[in-house]
Amino acid sequence: MAELESGAKNDAGVRRVVSGVRPTGQLHIGHLLGALRGWVDLQDEAQCLFFIADWHALTTGYEDTERIAANSLEMTVDWLAAGLDPEKVVIFRQSAVKEHAELHLLLSMIVPTPWLIRNPTIKEQARELGLIQSDDEAEMSKINYGLLGYPILQSADVLIYRAQRVPVGVDQVPHLELMREVARRFNRLYREVFPEPQPLLTESPKIPGTDGRKMSKSYGNAVFLADSAEETEKKLSRMMTDPRRARRTDPGDPADCPAFKLHQVYCTEDEIETVTEGCKTAGIGCLDCKKIMIKRLNADLEPIRARRAELVDRPDYLREVLDAGNVRAREVAQDTMRDVRAAIGLE
Ligand code: TRP
Ligand code: SF4
Repeated sequence: MAELESGAKNDAGVRRVVSGVRPTGQLHIGHLLGALRGWVDLQDEAQCLFFIADWHALTTGYEDTERIAANSLEMTVDWLAAGLDPEKVVIFRQSAVKEHAELHLLLSMIVPTPWLIRNPTIKEQARELGLIQSDDEAEMSKINYGLLGYPILQSADVLIYRAQRVPVGVDQVPHLELMREVARRFNRLYREVFPEPQPLLTESPKIPGTDGRKMSKSYGNAVFLADSAEETEKKLSRMMTDPRRARRTDPGDPADCPAFKLHQVYCTEDEIETVTEGCKTAGIGCLDCKKIMIKRLNADLEPIRARRAELVDRPDYLREVLDAGNVRAREVAQDTMRDVRAAIGLE
């Protein structure tokens, strides 16, 4: 197992990476292309810690907690199936490393509430969930303390490992900015304990769901890693295309076709050229066009499905991976917390 250096030794030369995902459901190809593939590439370059953000899941899902444990295990399956190697990266559960909660508490003492109230990511999330009606800052009084403090917990998640890089989507950039402000404030108030973490943005294009909207479990438009090849083909055969191609003889434009976003990811240059030409001249039907992409996509997912099938039969192995990850994460977190307490004067 790769050695994790203690935080104190983790200076300029070593790049440490931390990221987390809320266990809210099955992972889909949007997650795979938007995040997971990037993580897999990182595991050979940096010390990586990837965790299941189960406490964060409670910030909105506190009423319905029945699926959290199962979702957490399933997410671990998806991560390993996608190629994360527990010999190279630390995979763990946020709630298993209580030091995150201690640091969250201590950081909450130094965070002015306006930093939280103006947070655009939480506002958008609260609006989507119907918790607030408008962007008005007064509306934020309707949301729970835990959700308001979401970015403080997230700051603790990253700062506790003294990570320099955080692979996330663009929606998380405001949280990273806040995290750096929190780190700076702590370092200034007490002493230099935390580096200022920078986001690592994925280059992959946004993957639309089968209805053309953003791919999301809650929209019912997602292709899951757990879907069979047949299921995947069925979903994608019905995927939305350029509406101008209502009839087979109507020409279209791939630029206005949600399905074509997947061609761009999965098809060869030759195929993309053929498809583009066929689309614009009505020389190819949408179903045949999508079949070309579906074949590539299914071939790409096949090894992931095979590993998934193996892993779901090995719950003991999954628990071992998480237990080992929890222990290794805790070691680093405890090391940082000693410095944090000493800096504040809590020794
Ligand atoms: N906020 C992230 C999301 O919604 C999840 C998350 C929690 C996270 N803690 C983190 C991401 C720390 C990166 C680092 O996707
Ligand atoms: Fe999309 Fe292909 Fe249909 Fe054109 S032919 S609209 S690219 S599915």
